[in-house]
Amino acid sequence: MIRKNRVKYYNAFSHVYDKFIALHSRDLQQKARNFLISTADPRPGDTVIDICTGTGSLLPRYAEAVGEKGRVVGIDFSIGMLRVAREKTRELKNVFLVLADVAALPVKPGVADAVSCSHAFYELKNETADACLGEVRRVLRNGKAFYMMEHEIPRNRLIRGLYTLRLLSMGSKRMKEILENETGRFKAVFETVSKIVSPTGKSKIIIARKGKETTQP
Ligand SMILES: C[S@@+](CC[C@H](N)C(=O)[O-])C[C@H]1O[C@@H](n2cnc3c(N)ncnc32)[C@H](O)[C@@H]1O
Repeated sequence: MIRKNRVKYYNAFSHVYDKFIALHSRDLQQKARNFLISTADPRPGDTVIDICTGTGSLLPRYAEAVGEKGRVVGIDFSIGMLRVAREKTRELKNVFLVLADVAALPVKPGVADAVSCSHAFYELKNETADACLGEVRRVLRNGKAFYMMEHEIPRNRLIRGLYTLRLLSMGSKRMKEILENETGRFKAVFETVSKIVSPTGKSKIIIARKGKETTQP
């Protein structure tokens, strides 16, 4: 699917996205997002960027954690998705929404204390995923990390089949990479890469850190 069609697809999806997710997965809506926020652990004054933010479900939680001295930036290339995100964050002065492709982030280098991406990285085309990782590294401060949350490979055979189909839609090379060497692409760009699985076993986060971890002051 070329980029223009992908944007159209997400614009159309934005009208029903939250309802669809609520129906399809209570785990994604609640437990998985709690898992991501507690892992990224944003602090007051931090700058947090959520790429492929979609309808911005994480943004109010980040905004509360970083407080009035912090900033939360939600980035997506779908105006439809960002319209829904705007509704959720209208009152929040520390939230900024940006219409952009993740392959070229309109953000200064070294400003982010954390970058997250929830259930979207595996939908990016191969070249976009590569460009995105380079961009995420560029905008992170030294010692800070990218938190990439995705579904863990499902144990149920039917659901695993659907999961594999989703990966296949990105191309067989990418599917093979994700199933056999999931962290390889991250290790090519970041100094430290680790993976943690949520307590439910249904989600995972790949933590890719730029340089060495720095302790909070
Ligand atoms: C499955 S939704 C996930 C939304 C949200 N992160 C969540 O967890 O609910 C994928 C999102 O990624 C966005 N997206 C996909 N490719 C993108 C790209 N190249 N640049 C920016 N956003 C992109 C889509 O517009 C869509 O909002």
